[in-house]
Amino acid sequence: MPGVGRIQARPFSSIDEPEDYLGRICYNENPLGPSPLGLQALRDEAVLAHRYPNWLNTNVESVLAEYYEMSSDQFCVGAGATEMIQKVADAFLGPEDEVITAYPSYTQIANQAITNGGTAVYVPLDENYDIDLSAILDAVTENTTLISLVNPNNPLGRIFTSDDFASFMDQVPEGIVVCVDEAYYEYVTDPNYETVIPYIQDGKPVVVIRTFSKVYGLAGERIGYTVSTPELTDQIEDVQLYATVTRTSQAAAIASLEDIDHIDATLSLNQEAKSILYAGFDNLGLSYIPSETSFMMVDCGVEVQPVAEALSEAGYIIRHGWDMPNHLRVSTGTIDEMNGFIEALGNALESVSVQSNIVPLSPGIKHIYPNPFNQSCKIKITSHENEKVLLIIYDTLGRKVMTLANQTLTPGNHEFSWNGKNIFGKNVASGTYLLHMIHGEFVSTQSLQLVK
Ligand SMILES: Cc1ncc(COP(=O)(O)O)c(C=O)c1O
Repeated sequence: MPGVGRIQARPFSSIDEPEDYLGRICYNENPLGPSPLGLQALRDEAVLAHRYPNWLNTNVESVLAEYYEMSSDQFCVGAGATEMIQKVADAFLGPEDEVITAYPSYTQIANQAITNGGTAVYVPLDENYDIDLSAILDAVTENTTLISLVNPNNPLGRIFTSDDFASFMDQVPEGIVVCVDEAYYEYVTDPNYETVIPYIQDGKPVVVIRTFSKVYGLAGERIGYTVSTPELTDQIEDVQLYATVTRTSQAAAIASLEDIDHIDATLSLNQEAKSILYAGFDNLGLSYIPSETSFMMVDCGVEVQPVAEALSEAGYIIRHGWDMPNHLRVSTGTIDEMNGFIEALGNALESVSVQSNIVPLSPGIKHIYPNPFNQSCKIKITSHENEKVLLIIYDTLGRKVMTLANQTLTPGNHEFSWNGKNIFGKNVASGTYLLHMIHGEFVSTQSLQLVK
């Protein structure tokens, strides 16, 4: 079974923010600031702050309808994608219901399902850190009412293609609503990526979530929306509060939608910032997950918490977590922020490695990812001296399935992978397997779940 239950996914950095930071590169905010047209509209509207806003955001909805050439009863506007995710969960997830989602991903909808008394099922990403759409279909049960996908995914920055989604939609059983969070839609450059809004135009039970927080630079204003069929939009509006979106947010959103210059400048800065990050990581010898968004994950090769702390001391706030203990997520920023961050990251890694040379690394199996896994998993271990390491997979009856390592390794971190095959090259059955690590005096065991 894939993982089930609540995942602690605070959207906030675990590091205290220094007041005089040099780079707040942890929340995927727009480093260029708000759209200038949006800012002007916001300022103009502020003088009416004593008057209630348009209660149900019909002003924004009709502008969106014109922009998308759809009907205004297909839009529901709320206080950021955050409110809309909650409303989608409230509309489609009752106490008996189940949502299926990927992990790591943006798990707010799954947590809301649990708050509503329902169940959340998490399906691990595949070995390329992509959302495993076929494993998601395999996880469907008679209680599934919602499948929630984030495309591009956060925190990985990876996409699924329009072809992948087409074949997925062909197999989604009737009666299930598919919600696709497209918060970073505008940033994607891969030509195989498309919005799923055309499925809505074909009457399919699809909800798309969009936000003004990212490319429009209005994260502090709190405005986002859903696009869906009129029937599903009705269901979302049934659970909606009124007047959660301020006048200034409504005005800023309407004006920023057409601020093409600001959008272009944002996207071109994003590309430049990503190039600086990629080159910087290459220079530092770090591997990273190429991203289609305004953030990316980099593998620091060591436990990342002390690196994050050293970065914070240097004024750069990043995020980490999602059961990926060696990765940090960095948002794109200004050119200065990117150059400064790369320099600070180099220093942070150096200071952490100096400290870890003083305190010897403890040997062991550090991380198995993903686990449960479908096709293959990565296994990170630490060895502490030039001594042989044996890494062997057994089944639960104690029979040897595969030897992954039987060699002398240099002290430090090493990565292996297992593709679910036995020593004869045959695929083994779904189930629990045990990974043993023997390293001199040291012995440890961890279990792996193969899910087909
Ligand atoms: C994938 C995803 N969805 C939704 C949100 C929430 O966006 P908003 O600021 O519109 O509430 C975020 C915020 O970072 C996000 O990354």
